Amino acid sequence: MDVTADLVINNGTVVAAESTMNASVAIKDGVVLAVGAADAMPRARETLDANGLHLLPGAIDDHVHFRDPGYPQKEDFASGTIAAAFGGVTTVFDMPNTLPTVEDAATLAAKQAMAAEKAHVDYGLYAVLGESSIARVPELIAGGVIGFKLYMGNTFGRIPTPSTGAMLEAFEAVAPTGKRISLHAETNSVMERREAKLRQAGRIEPLAHLDSRPEVVAIEAVSRAAILAEWTGARAHVLHISSAGELRPLAEAKARGVDITGETCPHYLMLSTDDYARCGGIIRVNPPVREARNREPLWAALIDGTIDVIATDHAPHSREEKTRNDIWTVDCGFAGVETQMPLMLTEIARGRASICDYVRWSAANPARLWGLYPRKGVIQAGADADIAVVDLNRRWVVKDAEAHSIAKVTPWDGRQVQGLPVHTIVRGRFVVKDRALQAGTRGWGRSVHEIQNMPAPAPVNLDQTTTAILSSGARCQ
Ligand code: NCD
Ligand code: ZN
Repeated sequence: MDVTADLVINNGTVVAAESTMNASVAIKDGVVLAVGAADAMPRARETLDANGLHLLPGAIDDHVHFRDPGYPQKEDFASGTIAAAFGGVTTVFDMPNTLPTVEDAATLAAKQAMAAEKAHVDYGLYAVLGESSIARVPELIAGGVIGFKLYMGNTFGRIPTPSTGAMLEAFEAVAPTGKRISLHAETNSVMERREAKLRQAGRIEPLAHLDSRPEVVAIEAVSRAAILAEWTGARAHVLHISSAGELRPLAEAKARGVDITGETCPHYLMLSTDDYARCGGIIRVNPPVREARNREPLWAALIDGTIDVIATDHAPHSREEKTRNDIWTVDCGFAGVETQMPLMLTEIARGRASICDYVRWSAANPARLWGLYPRKGVIQAGADADIAVVDLNRRWVVKDAEAHSIAKVTPWDGRQVQGLPVHTIVRGRFVVKDRALQAGTRGWGRSVHEIQNMPAPAPVNLDQTTTAILSSGARCQ
């Protein structure tokens, strides 16, 4: 080959969702040029010896809250994407519960400009799909959203929950566009009643939060979302699955051919009610961390494909906001984008699943369901060179104080882990090298909406949409 690569990585183990292979990787102009034997590689301006290391497709975390604009004491787009890079995450999708809420073209445009200026890794931006933004679906798509977020229940940001009627109309509006709708699937009316009664009864301890959001809250919401997705043909993605009970409506909808996918997070796989006493309010998150009996079914669902994706719901808050005495005043969520990969790799090292399974959940599947595959989610010729170079043997202890997120308070502080991203490469460029942030990488991240290629839209029941009914006029008797 008469080309000079920008970078050749030698002696590593390249991991894909199906297999692992000892191979070299050549990179040029941000893209993987070749994967193969060392002596088949072109000349290179720079080489990296990855002896003893694994090359994973950079993780795609489709659920982070980088708080920008609006909450600089919690995070901003620079700190959040730096934390991502240190965690081996090369693409993030940022949620719209920033200030102002992303639900119109002007707010979205301002956030796009801010993110383009600050991002160290690639990103997609969500917009809220709610009562007031149904009519704005076309302008939000024109503004480059990666997908829509629908809040079926209240959480941080107090975004109003659409009624089922508004939700149906919203699904009708999105179905013909082919975009995917991510759901915060917890039913608001149930939680509101429970919370009011618990507060009246004087319950203010951390477990009162779980009592206000029992499993049925999530089961009911997932079931309803699945029915509306099936009825309209809109694509849906169930965020942060926390319970065993949600798996049945999800699996049944999949079996009926509904384009619905699911995600869970490390805290639902590795924590339980046993951790509430140790963590206090720090563990408060929506949906709540539940009883230990949910964990095995969640692992099994990842392994059998009912759950598609590992994401983090990275939801940073300041220490003061997380350590108030009255649980109802504690902000919900905690940081996670930097610890997901080490936490999951620790479970892989223990034999929970294979490293290929992990790559399927963290990279290949999110790339596929968001229309980014094979540009992202795989290390092969023609793909973006988004690579986490990982030491699977490195044992270390998570310390909140060492986090790159502004929020240095999580339930993971002091946890023993095995596996560390040593270098993180985004489109061919080192963002983290030898555990050091590389100069000049601010603004290197790009919005991935331009490379998003969703399958053809598949709307159904088009004769029964609100628009169709209204435009058909009065019925003859
Ligand atoms: C998230 C946040 O803080 O933005 N909090 C949380 O508890 N998960 C919101 C959310 O994803 O529900
Ligand atoms: Zn949520």
